[in-house]
This record gives sequence, C-alpha cells and structure tokens, in this order.
Amino acid sequence: MFIELVEEDDGDRWRREFAGVPEEAREVRRFLRSLLAECAFLDDVLLGVDELAVNTIRHTRSGRPGGRFVVEVRWRQRDPEEKEGERVVVWVRDEGGPHEPAIPVGDDEFAEGGRGLLTLACTAETWGWFGDASGRTVCAVFAEPGCAV
Ligand SMILES: Nc1ncnc2c1ncn2[C@@H]1O[C@H](COP(=O)(O)OP(=O)(O)O)[C@@H](O)[C@H]1O
Ligand SMILES: [Mg+2]
Repeated sequence: MFIELVEEDDGDRWRREFAGVPEEAREVRRFLRSLLAECAFLDDVLLGVDELAVNTIRHTRSGRPGGRFVVEVRWRQRDPEEKEGERVVVWVRDEGGPHEPAIPVGDDEFAEGGRGLLTLACTAETWGWFGDASGRTVCAVFAEPGCAV
C-alpha cells in the first residue's frame, strides 16, 4: 500500500491512488479508517466518500480497464485554543469522461439510482467539483456540527 504524505502550511494531506475496480471501494474505506480512526464523524466520511469512489468507478474513465483514481485526505483536529472544530476534507480525482457530477432532479421517490450524491450532501457540510472531461475532482468537507468550515 503506497500512501503519499504531502506537507502543507495548514496541515498534512494524505494521498493514495486506487485501481478503478469495484473491490477498491473497500480499500478506500480502509484507507480512510486508518487515517481518521480518531475522527468523531468517521462514519459520515466513510458513507459519503464511499459514494464518491463508486461514482468514479461507475461514471468516469477511471472505471475502464487500467483506470485509476486518487483520494486525498486532510484532517484538522479540534483546536480549542484556536476555537476551531474538527474538519476533514476529501478530494477524489478521476480520469474524466462525458458526464458531470450532479444530484439528479426529478420527483421519482422510488428511483433506484441517483442517491449517492444526495447521501454525500446529507453527510458532508459542503461538496463540489472542478475539472473537465479530461479529469474531475469531487471535493467534500466534513465537519463537526456547528463548526465553521
Ligand atoms: N465523478 C463523476 N464524474 C462524472 N459524473 C458523475 C460523477 N459522479 C456522479 N456523476 C453523475 O452524477 C449522477 C448522480 O450521481 P449519484 O447521485 O451518485 O447517482 P448514481 O450513481 O446512482 O447515478 C450520476 O448518474 C452521473 O451521471
Ligand atoms: Mg452514485
């Protein structure tokens, strides 16, 4: 398992590349769990990022044979002196494709798909994406309730 540590001014960022196959979603969860074992809202992060990993495999070129995707994580622990709450930022970078991440609009409450980004929107404080057909990054910010992100 190759994990890269990127040191930044405002904390450390951990990066790992994964193969774009469904079995890797479990490895993504293990990676997050190993880094964020002490995180107070770990299960929200796991639930939300699992959807991002699955989307990358299902909806982007990362899911084609030989495709890869990259997960980066930054964890800021609670700092009572600075009055800053705990916060986790996760980036999932794919190899792009024709689609764009968007919560589907529609009133079919029994639809089988289209729940992933909705789940992310419920578990994360905020989320968004950038990039284009050659590669996109979905970013999600998780924070303890009431914490300014
Ligand atoms: N990383 C991504 N790159 C491009 N398109 C995406 C990505 N993630 C999601 N999408 C698009 O957003 C839609 C909604 O995603 P989601 O809510 O997870 O529902 P589902 O995966 O069940 O279709 C997907 O159907 C897909 O078209
Ligand atoms: Mg999905």
